[in-house]
Amino acid sequence: MNIQACIFDLDGVIVDTAKYHYRAWRKLANSLGFDFTETDNEQLKGVSRMESLDIILNIGKKTLDESKKQTLANQKNDWYLEYITMMTPNEILPGIVSFLDELKTQNMRIALGSASKNAVLTLEKVKLLDRFEIIIDGTKTTRSKPDPQVFLMGAADLGIAPKNCIVFEDATKGIEAAREAGMYAIGVGASNFTQAHAVIPSFEKINFDGIKALLKGTMI
Ligand code: BG6
Ligand code: MG
Repeated sequence: MNIQACIFDLDGVIVDTAKYHYRAWRKLANSLGFDFTETDNEQLKGVSRMESLDIILNIGKKTLDESKKQTLANQKNDWYLEYITMMTPNEILPGIVSFLDELKTQNMRIALGSASKNAVLTLEKVKLLDRFEIIIDGTKTTRSKPDPQVFLMGAADLGIAPKNCIVFEDATKGIEAAREAGMYAIGVGASNFTQAHAVIPSFEKINFDGIKALLKGTMI
């Protein structure tokens, strides 16, 4: 094992924006006359905006044309932006800042691999933009997780081989994407990450040596 880079998902790993995505989608579902539960929301983690809308419309048994769908996606994003623009560094998830500090002192390369088109804005709001050498987000990818594209682009831009990268993800689709990319995959949070190499509840009580110890003996 020769880890040279860490690639982080954003929503649910760096910041707890999953709740804002959920609130905005639920408002949209309610405006269309049906409800959308937190359990339903699990299916949307890591999924692009338009694919998320398709899942929601399927739950509500609605069929709409493309232009109406675009209007709804824009409406959801406007509501989402109301939350995001209010964000401050207080919303960075526990342990993240010290973990990023530690990676820097160890000369690890650091990238972001997110499906979100709001990734740069979010990082600006929580004042973490300068911590990421490379940002691959929903404005650059053409395929959604579990496709490995987002992570492979990140590794390629860093100039690091996939087998020397660790991905941190809170979505099972993101874990699948990391595995498919040929990278180490760490599940962050409480989901049932059957495909992850290792799982951590958060970054609160673990440092980089602890992560490497968890990966010791695992195979890509
Ligand atoms: C992912 C989130 O990071 O980004 C998804 O987990 C979200 O829930 C996706 O749908 C796209 O985000 P955005 O900001 O481009 O609508
Ligand atoms: Mg996520």
